[in-house]
Amino acid sequence: MGVMTDSPARAHPMLVSGSYRLLHGGDYNPEQWLHRPDILAEDPRLMRLAGVNEASVGIFSWAAIEPERDRFEFAWLDGVMDRLHAAGVGVILATPLAARPRWLAEAHPEVMRVHPDGRRDTPGFGRHNPCCSSPVLRERGALVIDRLAARYAGHPALIGWHIDNEFGEGAQCHCERCQAGFRTWLRTRYDGDLDALNRAWWTAFWSHQYQSWDHIRPGDSAVEASQLNWRRWCSELVADYCRFQVAAVRRHSQASTTTNYHGSLEHHDHGLMAQAIDYTSFDSYPGPDGSANDRREFEHVGWTLDATRGFKPGRPWLLMESCPSVPQWRQRQRLKRPGVHRALSLAAVGQGSDGVCYFQWRGGRGGMEKLHGSVISQDAPHDTRVFREVAALGRELAALSGVAGADTPAPVAVLWDVESEWARRYNSGLATVVRPGDLSRAWHRAVWAFGANVDVVDATTDLAAYRVVVVPGVFLLRPGFAERLQAAARAGAQVLVDGLSAWVDEDMACVAGGRPGPLRGALGLRCEEFDQLRPDESVPLDDAGGWLPANAAAVGWVDRVHAEGCEVLVACRAGFHAGWPLLTRKALGGGALWYLAGDLDDAARLHLLRRLAGTAGVAPCLPDLPATVVARERVQPDRRFVVVVNPGHEPATVPLQPGWSDAVSGEAAGERVVLGAWDARVLVRPR
Ligand code: GLA
Ligand code: ZN
Repeated sequence: MGVMTDSPARAHPMLVSGSYRLLHGGDYNPEQWLHRPDILAEDPRLMRLAGVNEASVGIFSWAAIEPERDRFEFAWLDGVMDRLHAAGVGVILATPLAARPRWLAEAHPEVMRVHPDGRRDTPGFGRHNPCCSSPVLRERGALVIDRLAARYAGHPALIGWHIDNEFGEGAQCHCERCQAGFRTWLRTRYDGDLDALNRAWWTAFWSHQYQSWDHIRPGDSAVEASQLNWRRWCSELVADYCRFQVAAVRRHSQASTTTNYHGSLEHHDHGLMAQAIDYTSFDSYPGPDGSANDRREFEHVGWTLDATRGFKPGRPWLLMESCPSVPQWRQRQRLKRPGVHRALSLAAVGQGSDGVCYFQWRGGRGGMEKLHGSVISQDAPHDTRVFREVAALGRELAALSGVAGADTPAPVAVLWDVESEWARRYNSGLATVVRPGDLSRAWHRAVWAFGANVDVVDATTDLAAYRVVVVPGVFLLRPGFAERLQAAARAGAQVLVDGLSAWVDEDMACVAGGRPGPLRGALGLRCEEFDQLRPDESVPLDDAGGWLPANAAAVGWVDRVHAEGCEVLVACRAGFHAGWPLLTRKALGGGALWYLAGDLDDAARLHLLRRLAGTAGVAPCLPDLPATVVARERVQPDRRFVVVVNPGHEPATVPLQPGWSDAVSGEAAGERVVLGAWDARVLVRPR
């Protein structure tokens, strides 16, 4: 790539210490192999062969580091660090609190989580199950982190810190201390005024008034606000537990910190936790194995990765774990077909990941994850298909080092807010109406099909820089959210709010004055009734402006709204809903607020998104993209990268304008790129 490869211009700092490169590596658990010095010696050599430049070490090694209280064993870890360094592999060292040593849990059961039924986990019961408020755990945890950080802060292998692991499963503990913490937190939240809490929580309903703070306990299923606030408190506690670990690291080391998110992102408020760390990361185990109907799964994980980045919009993040073959916990043990792992990995890079890491480098011969697809299987030979695919990807990522630190600029934001997801879960009613996450994913799919970068962001995010903002199912109004939507419109954004948004306040009472509460003036409408349609029902529409495809219909639900100052663009045509608005718009500043009073199918969503994007002047990453190809862009100050992925079986041709090169080979890309099944390519051109 000549001149462009050497360019130092980068949009963001490197995630970890050292030069700009895409990270390639993953979880490495040498503590399981201390009886096999031959394997420990071989690993760094094989990592080099596989193009691995990163290892996440020590995640579950507290018991190996501190086999007895106050007896620390660092010799083995010294050796691991030294050997990795000699092989050119940087270490993201873990604070090892994701699992506790048995001696600690036996002596102090309080370090273990308590379930809602009062049952406390025993030491052999899994991992990720701490009581995050336990003083003993914090004291012992701070000590082991302190010893680790003091010892390795200056080690040349150290490039960053991996805080704990997958906070979430254990983010709720119901012990007496955690419950008391909840009550103390509530006292602060309601300024010590129990009457204010009773009013906000509407406890006059069924005589649920609290006469004393001590009467408040989590799990009061008839008090929706109690359940919701319990989740908030657990989120605060687990974020604090993460902050406490970062602080222990910071006594000795300024290297960057992350913690790996996973799954549905519903366990706690990941936006809150993002404030405690330097960059976000995600453990991604998507379904696609190369089967014909895998596109939906590809899109599903795409949403999650855009949400992971959305907690720090635009900035690089890290694919911390992925599986080059098949995790043992999958229902069907079908291998990823050749190329699928590469396509998923490059897609993640296109979405802002500055690397591709695995769980795990070498599988153990025993333990529950002995059959999990690793780069190397136990102590078996490494001349395998998976190893070769990983090594080939390693070479490709090395050639793509120019991507590291690139921005992932998104003109479109699709909202998803965990508090709305919880609120819908605890809400009595709307039981079978589509959930916020599913709505958000549906709109995200539309943006993917359109071909532009998209951030999935929560309702605390500043939206002023986006050109299109989609607000699907943001049921709970966070403080300031209505103002942020209006600020975005004033700054020129087209803001689309749907009829499942703006129903309840922070304590799950219906918004005062009726829906859409504080958005009534800006949207120029008032909601009267919400009608859920039968699955076989749809409502025909009058759409003279072609805002939706010909013969589009409302499906799922219709929100009956009165226009009070908005333009009605599309209306229901027949039946009970005839004449009621379906799509409205009201200008504000340089932009507008739109209201969608019914759900649509995928084709209609894409059509409407195209119209919104057209109004906002938003274009796809590449013109004339085939419908099946996904394109995402990463931008450095002096050049633009586009990753194109074909997540399907039919070959696809992407037409190109002059100026693009293949970012790996450096060769001119010509007038088109032909992508085979599950194929991907990274293109680059100067800006
Ligand atoms: C998670 C964990 C890892 C491992 C993998 C297996 O992502 O972080 O420790 O258990 O799952 O899929
Ligand atoms: Zn507890």
